[in-house]
Amino acid sequence: MKMASCACAPLSVTGMIQRSFKISKFLLPQSTCSSGYLRLSHSRNYSQSVVNPVENGNGDVNFAVTPTATILNGKTYPVDEYTNVNPKILSYTCRKLHLQKYNPLCHVKRRIIDFIYKEFPSRTRSPLFSVFDDLDPAVSVEQNFDSILIPKDHPSRKKSDNYYLNNNHLLRAHTSSHQAELIRSGLNNFLVVGDVYRRDEIDKTHFPAFHQVEAVRLCGLHDVFRDENIARELKLFETGKCVRTPEKQETHTVDAVMMMTSALKTTLIKLVQHLFGKDVETRWVETFFPFTHPSWELEVNYNGEWLEVLGCGIMEQSILQNAGAGDKIGWAFGLGLERLAMKLYQIPDIRLFWSVDSGVVHQFKVDDPYAPIIYKPVSQYPPCKNDISFWLPENSTFSSADFYDLVRSIGGELVEQVSLVDEFYHKKKQRWSHCYRIIYRDMSKTLTQEEANVIHAAVEQAAAKNLRVDIR
Ligand code: PHE
Repeated sequence: MKMASCACAPLSVTGMIQRSFKISKFLLPQSTCSSGYLRLSHSRNYSQSVVNPVENGNGDVNFAVTPTATILNGKTYPVDEYTNVNPKILSYTCRKLHLQKYNPLCHVKRRIIDFIYKEFPSRTRSPLFSVFDDLDPAVSVEQNFDSILIPKDHPSRKKSDNYYLNNNHLLRAHTSSHQAELIRSGLNNFLVVGDVYRRDEIDKTHFPAFHQVEAVRLCGLHDVFRDENIARELKLFETGKCVRTPEKQETHTVDAVMMMTSALKTTLIKLVQHLFGKDVETRWVETFFPFTHPSWELEVNYNGEWLEVLGCGIMEQSILQNAGAGDKIGWAFGLGLERLAMKLYQIPDIRLFWSVDSGVVHQFKVDDPYAPIIYKPVSQYPPCKNDISFWLPENSTFSSADFYDLVRSIGGELVEQVSLVDEFYHKKKQRWSHCYRIIYRDMSKTLTQEEANVIHAAVEQAAAKNLRVDIR
């Protein structure tokens, strides 16, 4: 994401959150499957070959791709005009980094769960919050968008921003896609931790697969107003005239929203203090999400940079009503694990979370998730820079996102960055030209220019064939 990589703009941890679901701006962000599950030519977009079922290391079959269907976690998704997943992206679903005990993402996840358990002690022996960290990342369009009121024409639904299995299913773009079903199942307090997928530009802070933690808390009258006498006097819902204001939804009372907001904000400030230390400076930024109102982002000042760490708000009441919890009022937040962990451990490149290189993996092999680890760069291997210029196809839509995907599916984790460095319109030819710079770098050994050239030639060929561009 541009904002994060630019030195003068505030660094955003949940940049993906901001870009995809806020109303204003809109755009939208990969890994090693250790055993090299995928070979270049296996991407369905680029050839019609069949990729056989893949094992995830536990012996479980994870996915298979045929020209007519994708089989993922035992379910079959027929291919249609919406299908834009490729074997590379599907392979990430088998890694489950947040469940790998020594992955930095897992350490941060454990710190967050710890905090929530301590903050919300339960009266029974089981914790108040249920944790779901292994829900299927393939969700329906209804789960990802409709169930949380994302309008039919909202840009976050675009094919160019998501990985669709077909017109009905996609790899979830956020953990909020599980809110409605979990509420419907009767839960009032839960966390969802999982891998999410978005198509995006390629740089050190973006990877098409990343991880989020979602929290939802629903409260009844007596949870909101703890004091019996106060609870007798006050209400959660308006009975008279109902108007939506910047401060509240039409159905909620000002009192209820004030109490919920204060509980939400206090919890979140404590959470970031728990992660970054007591002295962390924070600021609230008002924002808009289709599924919460009012909504905020929380930014933290960390080493001199403002860093967006999460999105949150009071849940839209109709989500609760539709899920059978209309008598409660709820708050929710969603945070991005990668950028949080990058800052905590000073990890300079998002691809490192997916590394199987022992020099990287070893540094996080600690049982205590609170161990104060500072990542030490494994010697930096030199980058190779290759440019590619082409004329865009005439009379057809070309999206940079398709090109980024193509580069990633061919170059895999060797691709560090792809940037559009030049574009112009040739009047006589009446055609657009794009020039992209691709930086190739191996994280664990020196990649020679000759090796990079081989990959680059494959990128050129595939671009010409599949995107119908004319290489210049
Ligand atoms: N799902 C939002 C995103 O990924 C984050 C969010 C979750 C915001 C819950 C508010 C409440 O952009």
